[in-house]
Amino acid sequence: MELADVYPLLDIELVKGEGLDLWDAKGTQYLDFYGGHAVISIGHSHPHYIKSISKQLEALGYYSNSVQNPLQKKLAQMLGSQSGYDSHRLFLCNSGAEAIENALKVASFHTGKRKFIVFQGGFHGRTSAAVAATDDSFIQAPLNKSEDFLMCPLEDKQAFDRLFQDNKSQLAGVLIEGIQGIGGIFEPSKEFMEHLSKRCREVGAVFICDEIQSGYGRTGTFFAHQHHGVKADIVTVAKGMGNGFPIAGVLIAPDIALWQKMLGTTFGGNHLACSAAIAVLDVLKDENLEENAKQQGAYLIEALSKINGIKAVRGRGLMIALDFEVPSKVIAQQLRSSYAILVGSATHPHTMRLLPSLTITRAQSDYFINSLEKVLRAL
Ligand SMILES: Cc1ncc(COP(=O)(O)O)c(C=O)c1O
Repeated sequence: MELADVYPLLDIELVKGEGLDLWDAKGTQYLDFYGGHAVISIGHSHPHYIKSISKQLEALGYYSNSVQNPLQKKLAQMLGSQSGYDSHRLFLCNSGAEAIENALKVASFHTGKRKFIVFQGGFHGRTSAAVAATDDSFIQAPLNKSEDFLMCPLEDKQAFDRLFQDNKSQLAGVLIEGIQGIGGIFEPSKEFMEHLSKRCREVGAVFICDEIQSGYGRTGTFFAHQHHGVKADIVTVAKGMGNGFPIAGVLIAPDIALWQKMLGTTFGGNHLACSAAIAVLDVLKDENLEENAKQQGAYLIEALSKINGIKAVRGRGLMIALDFEVPSKVIAQQLRSSYAILVGSATHPHTMRLLPSLTITRAQSDYFINSLEKVLRAL
């Protein structure tokens, strides 16, 4: 059997990782400024993470959601306390798209309605409702086309209010990324977020923040929307939550009714996944990684802003975009071949995304800054 050929692949076979370092099968060492698409939060192969998962695997790897699983309760308690969302309830699932599907479903159950306002440049996943909420018609099959998702320009309060007025009687919710990731690291302003939250409250619509990429400390607070002091009715998490182990979650406000059999999944919240997610929260706290993300991010953004040849630098913490005059893949290729650095791309071909692990050091930031400077000088 052949593999489904759906991914454009780099010709690199990775065999080992440690912190931000990766090694390929030929022994070449790379510096990971991509974090496997913002997934690596506490660094590759963190010893505490390995120990926790290994110990759990020896005891019990999996059982379904038909029995008590104290690890889920421990994870919910830790996530509530570390994120400041103690009174929300946690539904565990397996991937970002699945978290979004469940978030939309809960909002629709809660309101009895089916329309959502979503944003241009937004990405929420590739499954049915998640891809319908995503601003990318290329990945929507005819089955996914839906008139229930109303696309609004980011930061355009007037356009939002027009959509809101025309649809408020049918509005189940508003779905927005804490900071747009794949779209190119665009952050909604405090004013815009407050406006959305207020409008949702006016009609009882559900305010949903997608923190799948921007959450878990990456931007210097647990969730990116917390920079603006707003509180979401529902928050979705995935990526950094398991540091590579597939796990995702939906945080649901206490006033939203939940009942048995309303949601469910076979693998979600299994013992192994919970042990990975608990280990991630342990390390985030013990190593003060939110603060490191804030400091190293600010350092990177300031230093990168001074480099000639970068058109724009955007971002917060360790979620950074660089715009170039030339396609970013030209620069990414040079960074890879001459300096063994891996970086990410974005929807716009001239944008590069930096999403390193939250454990990044000053020396690693400096290596990246100096290498990029040399690449741009040689262009
Ligand atoms: C903001 C955001 N939401 C949802 C998703 C979908 O997550 P997954 O690929 O785990 O389904 C992604 C993935 O990149 C994302 O960046």
